[in-house]
Amino acid sequence: MEPRTFFYVANWKTYFSYAQAVEWCTEHAHEFQNHNVVICPEFTALAHASKLITTGAQNCSSYTPGAHTGQVTIASIKEVGANYCIVGHSEVRTQLHETPDDVADKVALLIEHEIIPILCVSDEIAHELTPILKKIKNTDQIMIAYEPVSAIGTGTVPENSRIESMLNKIKKLITQHAPQVQTKLLYGGSVNAENAKHLKSIELLDGFLIGKASTDFQLLKKIVEL
Ligand code: PGA
Repeated sequence: MEPRTFFYVANWKTYFSYAQAVEWCTEHAHEFQNHNVVICPEFTALAHASKLITTGAQNCSSYTPGAHTGQVTIASIKEVGANYCIVGHSEVRTQLHETPDDVADKVALLIEHEIIPILCVSDEIAHELTPILKKIKNTDQIMIAYEPVSAIGTGTVPENSRIESMLNKIKKLITQHAPQVQTKLLYGGSVNAENAKHLKSIELLDGFLIGKASTDFQLLKKIVEL
């Protein structure tokens, strides 16, 4: 069996300002060149960071260019060099009242622009995932991150058996609605240097979505090298 490729998606949220994100990438990005690390900084730092490392946006607009104040289009995200985009993060679903259909529109548009969506789903997997899988019926690529709300930023991580059972649920829905889709499965929620090794033993996993711990260079390095 081929060794699995493991991805580390760093969701920097608003932990870093533009200048801090640029400084971090300038100092440390080269350390992660060959490690499938995807850095997702604030929009303002995306263009600069994309010159130094593989990047993703933290969200995107579901609208095409036009009269949409405050939105960032997928076309711009593509132009500045990002290859990925997080969508459906629970903080966005809650704070901006995003619905599964809104998220589905974003996923479809991202795929159209050849940006790989990193779709976050909570314990409400069927409700959140089904409308999206119904929209993507071909050989598209997508990452799906299982992120239980109770684990985000809390330090409380579910048992591996619980994560496995949720990942299996995701796989079952994919088989049912979009069997041709190329999927990578991630786990996110309080991943840190202490629990990463144990979590990596989950065979179904292809990577982590890491928030707070990914902003600390030493911690991220440890997680990647475990
Ligand atoms: P956390 O965040 O690692 O700080 O819990 C993960 C996320 O929200 O993606």
